[in-house]
Amino acid sequence: MAESVKPEIKEFQNLDSLSIAAAEEIVETAREAVSEKGRFSLVLAGGNTPSTLYRLLATEYADRMPWSSTHLFWGDERYVSKDHPESNYKMAYQTLISKLSIPIQNVHPIPTEMGNAERDATSYEEELRGFFSASKRGEHNAFDLILLGVGEDGHTASLFPENPVLEEKQKWVASILAPPIYKTQQRITITLPIINKAKKVFFLVSGNNKRKVVKAVLEDQDTSGKLYPAGLIRPKGELVWFLSSSVL
Ligand code: 6PG
Repeated sequence: MAESVKPEIKEFQNLDSLSIAAAEEIVETAREAVSEKGRFSLVLAGGNTPSTLYRLLATEYADRMPWSSTHLFWGDERYVSKDHPESNYKMAYQTLISKLSIPIQNVHPIPTEMGNAERDATSYEEELRGFFSASKRGEHNAFDLILLGVGEDGHTASLFPENPVLEEKQKWVASILAPPIYKTQQRITITLPIINKAKKVFFLVSGNNKRKVVKAVLEDQDTSGKLYPAGLIRPKGELVWFLSSSVL
């Protein structure tokens, strides 16, 4: 496993203060990226935790973000229509995108319209490769910032324990089946090879049901990955855990 930097841990009283701190750092990262290379690539997390952050980015922080040069991607998607309650795109659209004047060509949702998750995954990978190949400033296929959550089973994005996708070394995007306990099993997810190239990864974690997983991952990065895929996230760049007190 390539050497990665030691994770930084940031603890907060509650989800609101966690989200404010994350918004501050996202603005700073965005402005640095845009001044360095003219654009900022941000991968959004799904689930519920990030919705507070997205609302902040759409309101208090909206004017500080360089939206015209920001490109939004998704780390994973449930294989449903974009107006389905389970859609990660829908959550981000309602809390963030619908409130912004971001150019439509800067919003890169994971396609779920072909009725064939494999084909949609391939199509998304082609979109990502096209995005990076157009880069004039040697981005080396690295997203500037990837936001991730953690499930209580240790999954992150849609990388679930014991799923063969954890062994993927080439593909950047894969279609997978989540365990049967999940309402929408068919998913599309970005994979470890592209996640671990990222310049920065932020984990946003709240909820005492995550306590066991977070403790295991932070205490023993080497073995936890076998049990908890979140332990396999070792980006070349910075890794920061934003934790609310309910997790600690
Ligand atoms: C998804 C997410 C998933 C999420 C975790 C945590 O599509 O469900 O990408 O990885 O981040 O399940 O979800 P909560 O933030 O809702 O706890």
